[in-house]
Amino acid sequence: MIHVKREKGCRIYQHSGLTKLSLITLRKLLESFWVIYKNGVYDVTSFLPSHPGGDQIMMAGGLSIEPFWSVYGMHKTQEICDLLETYRIGNIHEADMIDHSAEEELWSKEPSRDERLIVKTSRPFNAEIPAKLQVAHFDTPNELFFVRQHMPVPELDACKHKVKVIVKNGETKTREFSLQQLDKFPRTKVRAALMCAGNRRSEMNEEVKPVKGISWQGGAISNAVWEGVLLRDVLRDCGVDCNNVAGKHVIFTGADIDATGVNFSTSIPLEQALNPNNCILLATHMNGAELPPDHGYPLRVVVPGAPAVRSVKWLESITVSKEESCSHWHQKDYRSFNASETWETADFSTAPPIYSLPITSAICDPADGDTVVPKDGVVEVRGYAYSGGGAKIVRVDISPDCGETWIQADELQTDDAPAQQHHSWALWTVTIPVCKGQEDMVLWAKATDSNFNTQPERFDDIWNIRGVLSNAYHKITVQIAR
Ligand code: MTE
Repeated sequence: MIHVKREKGCRIYQHSGLTKLSLITLRKLLESFWVIYKNGVYDVTSFLPSHPGGDQIMMAGGLSIEPFWSVYGMHKTQEICDLLETYRIGNIHEADMIDHSAEEELWSKEPSRDERLIVKTSRPFNAEIPAKLQVAHFDTPNELFFVRQHMPVPELDACKHKVKVIVKNGETKTREFSLQQLDKFPRTKVRAALMCAGNRRSEMNEEVKPVKGISWQGGAISNAVWEGVLLRDVLRDCGVDCNNVAGKHVIFTGADIDATGVNFSTSIPLEQALNPNNCILLATHMNGAELPPDHGYPLRVVVPGAPAVRSVKWLESITVSKEESCSHWHQKDYRSFNASETWETADFSTAPPIYSLPITSAICDPADGDTVVPKDGVVEVRGYAYSGGGAKIVRVDISPDCGETWIQADELQTDDAPAQQHHSWALWTVTIPVCKGQEDMVLWAKATDSNFNTQPERFDDIWNIRGVLSNAYHKITVQIAR
């Protein structure tokens, strides 16, 4: 039985009785698992273990998956439809078909977006910034900042918006702050890049073997100056014991809701939340302007140095608890596995959640396949480099001959933050000599940070089913104009 209710302008589908059962219990109960799509009936039992969205699929058991795919629009690709077709076992009668056209309404309030963004999926909206525009600005203009949504953008009113702070410590204490009340804490600015853990996934996908996830090139990272109040000031004001942090977590919940009525949520360890070097903000502004709707208006968390998934947008509540977030996004995604694990063997319950990011870099201009025109016997190459956890980029090296020789970038633009607080990206420029008659050039880029960590050469050893932390050398080939 599916219940449909209306909440915060969204239609929510709840499957009665099934929500609390685990995948394993359900599979024992059900010999086969059928879903409906349009007029087709599909037995997807054998597909269940490899569903990248984990148990979420159980909500659609015996039902039409169309309401779910209205929210998770990235399913609507030829590849997934072809895969689904392989499971068809029959058709439903025309008279039994349900009209799902009203679900369009979920998307009627989406904000308008800059046409220069490279759209990866339109529902939910996911788009990367073109590489050449990344290096055009040290702080990415708000309209060009990459966008990563899991659901429709919620419509919120800054005047009415409140954030709850719930501290579970034996007894549960709850405080509530309007945006005005948050302003009693000192306002702070932090320059920080946000990078999706799946940035550069497409290279891992192409160079090794397929991974599941949005096929980001290098454009799921952007840089901005965020302004708001420090999370640790708010937590301390709410009585969080800073001397007793071990084993505790801070859960952030956003106002966006999935097809089963669950709000987006994830968590970080309390120790990470309170560490002053992490400069974690409850941000209301981005590059001097109110947060745009796509980036969390009116309030988001910004967790510098961590995968951007932890920077929860449209923030509604902060919970300090002994438990990590139990959400699907926290438990079944953004975790790390070795290259031998498959969807069948990977155990998300024991894999460590990703709370920090490794060093990475990318060549942005020229792009792979471009024809470059040498000037005075050299070509200029530009890109970005970034490392998580507050580490500073200290060097970027480019090889014009597949690693035989390396040339250090002569210009490295970084921020002037204190040690361990380098949350911004670095932009770099290097000039590469071109030999007479040279027709093409292979360029490799790698960066080194203040912990003297550098990037691995190949994707093979860091390949993982989800295609996260894809940070091997960036390699491109360009043609040289005669
Ligand atoms: N917060 C909410 N509430 N809902 C989301 O879908 N996506 C997360 C994070 N915060 C998300 C969210 C992910 S996976 C990323 S990469 C960043 O937001 C992207 O932030 P941006 O869209 O401002 O670039």
